Amino acid sequence: MSDVLISPSILSADFGELGAEIRRIDEAGADMIHVDVMDGHFVPNLTFGPPVIEKLRRHSDKPFDVHLMISPVDPYIDDFAKAGADILTVHPEAGPHLHRTLQAIRAAGMKPGVALNPGTPAEVVDPVIDDVDLILVMSVNPGFGGQSFIESQLRKIETLRQKIDASGRDIILEVDGGLNPQTAPRAIAAGVTAIVAGSAAFKGGPDHYASNISALRAGATI
Ligand code: DX5
Ligand code: ZN
Repeated sequence: MSDVLISPSILSADFGELGAEIRRIDEAGADMIHVDVMDGHFVPNLTFGPPVIEKLRRHSDKPFDVHLMISPVDPYIDDFAKAGADILTVHPEAGPHLHRTLQAIRAAGMKPGVALNPGTPAEVVDPVIDDVDLILVMSVNPGFGGQSFIESQLRKIETLRQKIDASGRDIILEVDGGLNPQTAPRAIAAGVTAIVAGSAAFKGGPDHYASNISALRAGATI
């Protein structure tokens, strides 16, 4: 059995009781908690920022896998570190100085990640592969949960798997968007080591969280 990490996205949780939702999804077997930060400018949706994450932090000891869909990023890096983010992932389009941003994230004590939109080529990671601990492949255009998995991203995952193996570095290859028990096995076969799931993790309410996570993890055994 592969040790694929499951990172449920709280974008699909009940925002009226986020703390309880994080406790439930943690107890249901989540390996990380995926936290989608959106600014209504870089993506056409709004969520929350560091003050909310800081309050949520006490509800789980699992790593907070924070996905920033904001621009600019740099003025907020220290705020996310103080709020308790473990991994901070940014889009290269969010600012003109990706390398500097990744260095600033590491200097603030977090693991830097880079996220590639469906239209962003795998080669964007080449100059920064020694500076990241996570590469996130967006298999939907970012902004909303519940969208369909974009098939063409499987080839990008295969390309990135080769790049990571060639680097010799321990880099998480994560996929985000439209993952469910049908698409997850295909992403795992293409080389990911972490699955983000919003709708598929929180589907059916709290009684289903553990079975939802097991169903996503089952793809690793195929
Ligand atoms: C989309 C977010 C995703 C989203 C995934 O912009 O980055 O993390 O929550 O939702 P599902 O799993 O429903 O596609
Ligand atoms: Zn995300």
